Formats: sequence, C-alpha cells, structure tokens
Amino acid sequence: MSEQAKKPIKITETILRDAHQSLIATRMPTDFMLPIVEKMDKVGYHSVECWGGATFDASLRFLKEDPWDRLRKLRDGFKNTKLQMLFRGQNILGYRPYADDVVDAFVQKSIANGIDIIRIFDCLNYLPNLQEAVNATNRMKKQEGRGHAQVALSYTLGDAYTLEYWADMAKKIEEMGADSICIKDMAGLLVPYKASELIAAMKENTKLPIQLHTHYTSGVAGMTYLKAVEAGVDVIDTAMSPFAMGTSQPATEVMVETFRGTPYDTGFDQNLLAEIADYFRPYRDECLKSGLLNPKVMGVDIKTLLYQVPGGMLSNMVSQLKEQNAEDKYYDVLREIPQVRKDLGEPPLVTPSSQIVGTQAVFNVLMGERYKMATKETKAVLRGEYGQTVKPMSQEVINKVIPGETRLTGRFADTLGNEMDKLEAEMKEWKQQDEDVLSYALFPQVATDFFKYRQAQQEKVDMTQADTKNGAYPV
Ligand code: CO
Repeated sequence: MSEQAKKPIKITETILRDAHQSLIATRMPTDFMLPIVEKMDKVGYHSVECWGGATFDASLRFLKEDPWDRLRKLRDGFKNTKLQMLFRGQNILGYRPYADDVVDAFVQKSIANGIDIIRIFDCLNYLPNLQEAVNATNRMKKQEGRGHAQVALSYTLGDAYTLEYWADMAKKIEEMGADSICIKDMAGLLVPYKASELIAAMKENTKLPIQLHTHYTSGVAGMTYLKAVEAGVDVIDTAMSPFAMGTSQPATEVMVETFRGTPYDTGFDQNLLAEIADYFRPYRDECLKSGLLNPKVMGVDIKTLLYQVPGGMLSNMVSQLKEQNAEDKYYDVLREIPQVRKDLGEPPLVTPSSQIVGTQAVFNVLMGERYKMATKETKAVLRGEYGQTVKPMSQEVINKVIPGETRLTGRFADTLGNEMDKLEAEMKEWKQQDEDVLSYALFPQVATDFFKYRQAQQEKVDMTQADTKNGAYPV
C-alpha cells in the first residue's frame, strides 16, 4: 500500500450545522460554539459546515440570535479553516422561490461575512434553479478572491436515476460553472457497493472534486464512506462523536481511525479530536436529560432501507393517518407513494417534495380515488412551479387536477420582478445593517419579532448605562 500514491481524504466537520440540526432541532447556541473554535481550527479540516440550512431560522426564532452575528464571530475564530454553508437554490434558506436580486444579495453578504464554500441544492435537481446562486458565487470569487460554488445533487432511487443520469448531471454541473459536486444523501439511501459504482461513474465524466454527504439513519453510512473513498471520492462529511450517528453523520474520529496508515490517512491528531469531543459530550448529556435529544433518533431506522423513502417522511405519514383514525391504511399509502411519485415526474424525496408526495398519497388512499382532491402544493408541482422533473409528469393527472391551466417550462423565478427595494421599504424602521433586509426577506414575521426583541434589549442596555452615569441604580 505504501507504493500507492498518497491521497488523504478530506473532511468537512458538520457538528456546528447538520449534526445539531439532525439531532437537537438546530438548537446549539453561538455562545456554546465559540470556546471550542480555536481547537477545531487546528484539526486540519477541509471545511467546517456552520451556517445555512435551518440554522438561520432557528437562530432568529428560538435562540433570539442574529445569524449574521454568529457567522461573523465564527469567521473571527476560524483563522485557518474554510467555513461552509447549505443553500436551497432559488429558495435561499426559506420556503418560497425568490427573485434573482435577492439570491444575489444573499450570496454576496454570506461571503462578505465569512462563508467560503456554498453548497447549493434543489429538491428536484432542476439545475436552472441553481444557476443564479452559482453565478453570484463566481462573481464574488472574482471580486473578493473568496467563494466556492458547490452544486449538490439530492440522491434518490428510482427508474430515472441510473448511473448514466448521475454521470450526465456531473458533466452538466461542471458546465454550469460550479467548483465542486456534492452527492447529498439526506435519507441515508446510498449503500456501500452502489457508492463505489456511483463515484466511479461520475468521476469518468468530470474533473471536479466530488464530496459525499450522507446520514447514518439506515446504519450503512460508515461503510458507504469507506467504499466511496476507495472509489476516489475527495471529501466526506462527518460529525464529532457526541453528535454523530443516528440521523446525523458518521463520527469524525471513527473515519479518521479507519483511514490511518492507508494512502487516505487524514493525518489528524486523535488526541486533539478527543479534547474537542470532551467539550461537546456534557452538552449532549444535557440535551438527553432535557429531552432535546431523543434516544429514538440515535438508532437504526431499517424502514428507510425497506421502503426506500426517508424516515421523516414515514413518520409524517403515520401522524397524518392517526389524525384521520386511518392507521390501518398504512400499507396502502406505502404502495401509493411510488405511484404518486411517478405521476409527478419521479422527483427525489427531500423537503419539500417528500411532504408533497406523502400527503398526496394519503389523500388518494383516504378519498378512495386518485386525485379526487389535490393539495395546493401538488397543483404547483403539476404547473411546473417547482421546476422541471427528470421524467414527464402524467398527462392524465394534469388534465384531472389543473385542466386548461398554463404550465411553466422554465424557472418560476423568471416570473418574479426584482424584490429587494420592496422588501427594504417594508422593514425600513428596523434596519440596523444591510443584512437585516435579507433576514426579513426569508422570514418576515420571525425576523420582525427578532428586530423588536433586539431593540428592546438595546433600550434596556441604554437605560442601565444612563442610570449608572447619573449615579442612580436601575430599579
Ligand atoms: Co444533511
């Protein structure tokens, strides 16, 4: 093995983003992160994922923190390590498609405040929904010398998703100007030997680095990484052990040890990793005690492998059936899911397409007739508002659900005019920094509540200072 050329596997650490999003509902506060940053900065990570995804919403809504402030503090602390974020294409970090000027402004401010790598994905793998974010990142790279556009493909199974499909997508991503590719296996569906085939097929079609992101949900993730690394994958995503496994990523220390002494050796210091784990472990115990960390999410969810749908989608479905006193229809709905998915053009099952397909399948079974009732979201998918799907949607279903309606053939964002000026006018009275407009754009109500809270806190501080100056004590 020593004759083989060295190719150390690179590691993206997820404990400051996906790991706590997956295990403790994204509740890790900035004040808890900062004291360990100096040590994490010495590990030699390829990058630390620390922003985007649900962290933005959770900071404003539950932690009463300014997410931009978190980013600036992490940037200050990480002197040598690249910072990475997750970005939902044209939906940015929100739940609706935004106009291009909002996407541009968000990318610009993310990089200006400290992000190096932006991982951009779309729930349909519809590449035009990713192009503007890639372009904006490339513009920043030119201007600021910083910024890396990574396009992530949502991994899924189905007739349309052949090795040729993935290899072809890899080529298209390279052509659209991305710097790297991520295979984003959010449900833990990628099994070890399929990973070998997948990486090999994609590597044949692109020179871009390939990163693999998976979750431990179905129990195969560590083995999947091993086979992917042997097949030439460049970067893997792991989480420090106190917040690893279960619905999170494989443990960083375990993967580091797996490759020690091989051509893929990371060279990381296991003692340093142990010190970092020691810092996070008491917090994990606290989360277990308070119930924030549910031991249920730490186990292996074998249903994911059995039905090839994300675990979260099944639990949603069960609660919908419970509400209707129709739990006996569980297996009927399970059989209906592939049919609905086929009718809607066989999309990947990731938020929000997983909820859309799951809910429609429940409706179809409970009504005893397919598409007798269609949800608002099913109609939007059929109109093409989420983007184009890999396979054509069922004409019969289109005729039944949205008869005579015009269908989009391009991006929904192209039907929107610029939005930034209007958004700024709406929230002007609260604006303390340009970034506030973007917080408001994503979560108008939640951000406004946060701005009010922030102002009240500032007024409290001002009063205390004034009182102290006058020699009086605040009452
Ligand atoms: Co993830």
